[in-house]
Formats: sequence, structure tokens, C-alpha cells
Amino acid sequence: MQLSTIIKEHTGRKFRKLEHYIDVYERYMESFRSKPITFLEIGVYDGGSLQLWKKYFHPDSKIYGVDINPDCKEYEEARIKILIGDQGDSKFLDELIEELPPIDIILDDGGHTMQQQILTFEKVFPKLKQHALYICEDCNTSYHPDYGGGLHKEGTFIEHMKSKIDELYAYNSLHNESFKITEVTKTAFGIHFYDSMVVIERKQLKPVGLTGPDSQRVPREKYMQHIVGKSMQKDPEKLKEGMMKNAIIEAINKNPIVMFNTLELQQAQKNQISNSIKEYQFSQNMLEADSKNSPKFKEFISEVRTFLTPHQRELLEKVLNNL
Ligand SMILES: C[S@@+](CC[C@H](N)C(=O)[O-])C[C@H]1O[C@@H](n2cnc3c(N)ncnc32)[C@H](O)[C@@H]1O
Repeated sequence: MQLSTIIKEHTGRKFRKLEHYIDVYERYMESFRSKPITFLEIGVYDGGSLQLWKKYFHPDSKIYGVDINPDCKEYEEARIKILIGDQGDSKFLDELIEELPPIDIILDDGGHTMQQQILTFEKVFPKLKQHALYICEDCNTSYHPDYGGGLHKEGTFIEHMKSKIDELYAYNSLHNESFKITEVTKTAFGIHFYDSMVVIERKQLKPVGLTGPDSQRVPREKYMQHIVGKSMQKDPEKLKEGMMKNAIIEAINKNPIVMFNTLELQQAQKNQISNSIKEYQFSQNMLEADSKNSPKFKEFISEVRTFLTPHQRELLEKVLNNL
């Protein structure tokens, strides 16, 4: 039965949903109905929405509700379990994730403050199943001062989620410290904004077929890095800057333990190096079979030497000899 029909025929407890949410739910949730799932809604209110989910999903699904109000516990029934706690409390969320089976769908319809919505997203999203949905509703509060909102105001849930769009594209990063590959880059399939609602689909991304040098199939991350590598080549200045950094990175990557332990780099240098390491390696591997003997590699290693201390240079030679 369609959710809209279930709602029309519902005679149980009260629930509170904006009408257009139903279309959004059906658009994303339909594919989760054929198998038992674990569903979590934060914000129980009168318990009515949990009853809807119980009817909508597979009969062997587990439906969980969370609310700060202890009275909500009485809305527990067969296949509906209610846990009492504050979604704005990091420790509570950690314990919740520990206690529940892996979650397929989470719906945040709780206190709607910025802190609660952001904390809940950051804590729960990485712990969802590989193929899952994260839905935050009533996020129009991002524009309401009473909830900590305001147009373009730093720290609102909507601004937070706008920044996730950049994370979604971070495989295209050109070694930019503030444009890093994150959990969202790796596992968010799509981020969708609706009036008062944000839906994040989590999905294990499939390798893409690369119509590259030998038509091999390569993981998406590497494919994107190949594109990045190519665009660096079009800009010699960027190439120089990026390759200098990356030449040394490759050396470290090939022999990370020796390099990290012997080169005596500062933590910040190590971080910078680690961030760029894979891009260089991949683009080089794609373009030249034996990158370590390539003239480019040699040229840039000699440039790398110029920004190392004499001691670090000496150590670099040792690492290079071990490649
Ligand atoms: C909008 S109502 C939930 C409506 C319900 N999901 C429905 O569709 O019928 C919000 C609920 O969130 C609960 N709540 C408020 N602050 C909370 C918090 N910090 N942690 C957990 N629940 C909270 C309230 O007690 C209230 O029951």
C-alpha cells in the first residue's frame, strides 16, 4: 500500500508531517520496502508516525523512536521500540548507535535546533548501513532565529549541508587543504534539498568504467584523480607546484614507514603530504608505467630537494634508494 493511502486510512495515534513530505518519503523509501529494515525516527511526539512506518515497511522491520520526553515510552508496542534521550547529547548518540542494529533509514524530526541537527548528522550518517537514507526534516528552522537560524548564518544546518556539496565533489580537489575527501565524498550518493527537508542517500559507489589508456575499470576515486592529474598538466605552474609536493609524497607512499620515521617532518608537513599522495601516484601511474624512473619524477625530486633541510635531504636520498 502507498504511504499516502496508509495515511488516509490511519486511525491510530496522532502524527505531524507537512503534506509534501509524503511525496519525498515515497520517492526515496520505496526501494527499502521489499526487505526487513531498521528504521529510526528521532522525535516521537504522539507516536503516530512510528505506527505509519510500521505499516509501510516490511513486517519484519524494526522501528525505533527516540524522544527526550520520557512519557513517549508508553507509545511502545509490538515492533516499535522507544528510547529516551537527548539528540543534542553526543554521548547519548554514541550509545544509541551502539545499541541499535545497523540503521537503514534515519529520520530526524526531533528538537530541530542547529546543534541537534548537525550533531545528529555527523554522528549517525557515518554509522548508517552502506546503502541507507538520512532524512532531516523541518530544517526550515535554519532560517528561524528562535532555533539559531538566519539567512546565510554560519552554523545553521542548511549552511552545514551546503558545505557537504563540496565534500561530495572532493575527489576533484587539487591538493587544497580545505577541500578534503571525507566520509561524504566516499559514501554519499546524492544530497537533495527540498522545502524544509534534506535527504542524503548513502550508497557504496560502484567502480566506473574508464575509457582511458587501456580501458581498465578503476575505482571512482582514482578516475577522478586521473582527471585532476590531467588538468594539472594543462597548467605548468600548478603542475610544478603540485608535482613538487607529490614527488616527495610518492616516495613516502612507497615506503611510508621509513620516510615518516626518518625524514623527521613536522606533523603539519606529514598531513599536507598525506593529503596529496594518491593524486600524484595515480596520475603518474596512468600516464607512465614506470613513474619513478620518469624524467618528470627525477626533475621534481630535484626541486623537492631545494625545500628540504640538508638533514632531510640526506634522509630523502636514503628513501629514494629504497624505492
Ligand atoms: C515535531 S515532534 C515529532 C513529530 C513526530 N515525528 C511525528 O511525525 O508525528 C518533535 C518531538 O521531538 C522531541 N524532542 C525535542 N527535543 C528533543 C531532543 N533534544 N532529543 C530528542 N527528542 C526531542 C519532542 O519531545 C517532540 O516529541
